Amino acid sequence: MHTFFVTISGENINLAKAEIDSLIGLAETDAKVTWLGQLAYIESTYDLTHFLLDRAAMTKEAGVVIGQGPLSDTSMEWLSDDVLMTCVKPTETFSVRTKSLAAGRRVEQRERLSVLLGARIRNLTNARVSLDKPDVKVLVIMTADRTLVCISNESRLRQELRLREPGRRPFFHPSMMNSQLARVICNLAGVRSKATVLDPFCGSGGILCEAATLGAKVLGWDLSWRLLMGARKNLTESLDRETSVIQADSRWPPLQAKQVDCITTDPPYGRTSSTRGAKAIKLVLTFLESIPEIVREEGRLCICGSHEMRIKEMMQDLGFAIKYHILVPVHRGLTREVTAAQF
Ligand SMILES: C[S@@+](CC[C@H](N)C(=O)[O-])C[C@H]1O[C@@H](n2cnc3c(N)ncnc32)[C@H](O)[C@@H]1O
Repeated sequence: MHTFFVTISGENINLAKAEIDSLIGLAETDAKVTWLGQLAYIESTYDLTHFLLDRAAMTKEAGVVIGQGPLSDTSMEWLSDDVLMTCVKPTETFSVRTKSLAAGRRVEQRERLSVLLGARIRNLTNARVSLDKPDVKVLVIMTADRTLVCISNESRLRQELRLREPGRRPFFHPSMMNSQLARVICNLAGVRSKATVLDPFCGSGGILCEAATLGAKVLGWDLSWRLLMGARKNLTESLDRETSVIQADSRWPPLQAKQVDCITTDPPYGRTSSTRGAKAIKLVLTFLESIPEIVREEGRLCICGSHEMRIKEMMQDLGFAIKYHILVPVHRGLTREVTAAQF
């Protein structure tokens, strides 16, 4: 059994937790997750640390728990020397950080633990301390009742997503979804490599670009020729894979059979996207009604609407099994709503 941890960002905790939950489901493992605020303590047959770091947009760091003991026992005798020597090699540099999850920051106890553990690792391994760019990051987490010693890895994906923001794409339009939310939507829709992913309101391809980065085959429809040309530019720059982005009205799906594994979409809302006179809610409802014709068995859908569209209720009325429903406040006048379902 592997024991590891994940810390999520605080921007939208419910969304970040749903992302982890969905990815663990995708990994098809028997993982047991215990949430302690923004930290997930996970026990599982497989070590999912690197899978979660590679996939989860809202995960900040993750790593293996190499030892744990009672909070009151600061000697850390429960932490094995052999394990420490396996984790830190003599030629490597390391750092020790501490983090307290309980109220009252226990500053003195944290400082003491970090000094003692740092000295112990140095004596055991001869490795050097580096606070700037350590090869190995040791993280001591103090929960309400336990001390966990972990080897931590920071997310590189978060930096990569910043480089893929709409403004940095070859084609930009203000309606384009930001890369972090686009990645979360792909994760809630359970996008896997080689899956066929459809965005029936694809615009300039914000969500499809993330799906393609995950190795999916992407299909996009939109009414706007200009945005479709933009989507093609954005997709060809970021990958070299099978894509089909065509001018189509989502109310009349140009698909013959159940060919789609996942639907990820962001239907028109607000002033930046045109509906050519149609009511956005009607467009969404008509498209939702056609889903059974185009999605394969056990396919998934994740849709990001605006709160007043009440997409969850529409989906429930159509008998869809809702898996996640999370509000995403954007500004005072706009709350978005992410809803995911499984068929
Ligand atoms: C919110 S934008 C999608 C933005 C997209 N997620 C992106 O990242 O670029 C909604 C899109 O729906 C398109 N649209 C509006 N009515 C449509 C319809 N009946 N069928 C297909 N697309 C439609 C608009 O042209 C617009 O590009």
